[in-house]
Amino acid sequence: MPDPDTDTDAPQPPIQANMVIRNIGQLVTIARQPIAGASGPLQVIDDAALAVHDGRIVWIGPDDDAEPMFQHDALSHTDGITIVDAQGAVVTPGLVDSHTHLVFAGDRSEEFHLRRSGVSYGALLAQGRGILTTMQETRSTDSQLLTELANARITSMRLHGTTTVEIKTGYGLDKNTEETCLHIINNLNALEETAASQHSQVRVVPTFLGAHSLPPEYKDRRDDYVNLVIEEMLPSFVGLARFCDVFCEREAFTLAESRRILVRARELGYLLKLHADQLSPSGGAQLAADLGATSADHLDFATDADLDAMRDAGVVATLLPGCSYSLRSPYPSARRFLDRGLQVALATDFNPGTSYCENLQMILGLAMSSMGMTLEEALMAVTINGARALALQDSIGSIEVGKSCELAFWAIQDYHEIGYHFGINLVQSVLVER
Ligand code: NIG
Ligand code: FE
Repeated sequence: MPDPDTDTDAPQPPIQANMVIRNIGQLVTIARQPIAGASGPLQVIDDAALAVHDGRIVWIGPDDDAEPMFQHDALSHTDGITIVDAQGAVVTPGLVDSHTHLVFAGDRSEEFHLRRSGVSYGALLAQGRGILTTMQETRSTDSQLLTELANARITSMRLHGTTTVEIKTGYGLDKNTEETCLHIINNLNALEETAASQHSQVRVVPTFLGAHSLPPEYKDRRDDYVNLVIEEMLPSFVGLARFCDVFCEREAFTLAESRRILVRARELGYLLKLHADQLSPSGGAQLAADLGATSADHLDFATDADLDAMRDAGVVATLLPGCSYSLRSPYPSARRFLDRGLQVALATDFNPGTSYCENLQMILGLAMSSMGMTLEEALMAVTINGARALALQDSIGSIEVGKSCELAFWAIQDYHEIGYHFGINLVQSVLVER
């Protein structure tokens, strides 16, 4: 009896595909399991091809093997398989930006320049500037303009290789504006779909961050605001946000307040994130571990014990070097996290206060130059670990059979040019098939 698993002469079932991407110079798969013909920590296949059917990757391998492999799915695609010529490009997973605040109006360039003369971010926040300045501008801007601003930022991200972006609310800080912002975020998915090219869609993941800052009308009754978040906002926004996040910080919400909000969010089915230990030790990282949060973000002041607790609880550590750049604060060492065995993601934290940057390539470069990450670690941090930070690692973040087809095409010969050739956009396009 021939064993069907080992008998190589047995006829292989045809693989149905409606798109085949040929002539890929380097396919940087970042696969979690070893792949035949791939090598190195990122599982790279030279001179590769990739086949897609109905938005899913169905085959990857050497380009020479691609031609005879695919059978036309005659029923649904009468004009045959679309062949894309990658012209020798390097192809990676589309980049995953797992932490942004991109729905807002106005900017805060004035604060950026004030900080250059020594005023701290925390001091501006305590004076009612910072987040509250953006809150005022956001509350007084209509949703059409907020949508246009957000859409332009997503387009800029896409041009730099991002195919999935998490977006937080947190500049409304009242029930109406928070809800408006959540609707804007959810509708961005549909907007991108109707944009010029159907291959230009960026996946948007919504996060509710009502506990971003105490709004001025609650200045002397902070419990009332926390209760509003817990009793009114969280139950109303179920289904509009995948995550609930809290800014757990001296200038924002206490550890006890953060816990109350996140416990209720978890009961209602939200996944959890925290802005933790950014400006001072807040206990946020430990709370993230206690509550089983998907990620804890910033972590500049997290202790070794905090990191161990996060690792043991499987909490992704999201580092945001754009903040160190903008706040001129020391870059946290990513080595501390990596050497303790944590999964590290990198994100832009795009926002008008601490990181006004849409470009994940820039963030990756900062992490390599100033946080001790290798290129391989940094590339994983903006792909598969970004996906982990969104609990989407089974569908995006690497190029593996069964995953969604979300790819970035780079105008380079070798992926080692990433980070080395800096300050320009190395991505030529993205391709998303749904
Ligand atoms: O992630 N730290 C809190 N939130 C943002 C900044 C928001 C703002 O300054 O507008 C951050 O850094
Ligand atoms: Fe943030």
